[in-house]
Parts: sequence; structure tokens; C-alpha cells
Amino acid sequence: MNHHGPIRMELEEKNYAFCTCGRSQALPFCDGAHKGSEQRPLIHSCERAGAVVVCGCRKSGNFPFCDGTHAKDV
Ligand code: FES
Repeated sequence: MNHHGPIRMELEEKNYAFCTCGRSQALPFCDGAHKGSEQRPLIHSCERAGAVVVCGCRKSGNFPFCDGTHAKDV
């Protein structure tokens, strides 16, 4: 599987669909590639615009945000 580290980005005040399946070509966002699987995107409603650190490995306990879990992967 792909392994991605944290992604620093700016979010606006709107809803985002974060990919949970890893198939999206637009990671970290869902592009619909999960269709046909059981997985669904995580919808995050951003209420305050600003810089965030988004999870790129999809294993964060605080998904869609990075909690450092990627650094514990072996
Ligand atoms: S493409 Fe991965 S959840 Fe939609």
C-alpha cells in the first residue's frame, strides 16, 4: 500500500470529502474511486479557515488530521 506522510495545507470554511480508501488520484481528497467498495469518504466540515496538517497515511486516530501515527509504522 501507499505510504504517505502528513500533508500541510490550507482549508477554507466548507465541507471536504477526505479519501479513506487510498484509491483516489486526488489524495488526500476523495475523487469517487471508492465506488464499488464498502469504503466511503470522511466528510469534514471546516468551520475555521486556516493551516492544518492532514493525515496522508489514513491511520490517524484523529483522521482527517495527522496525529503522528505515520511515524510509528514499521
Ligand atoms: S476515493 Fe477513496 S474514499 Fe473516495
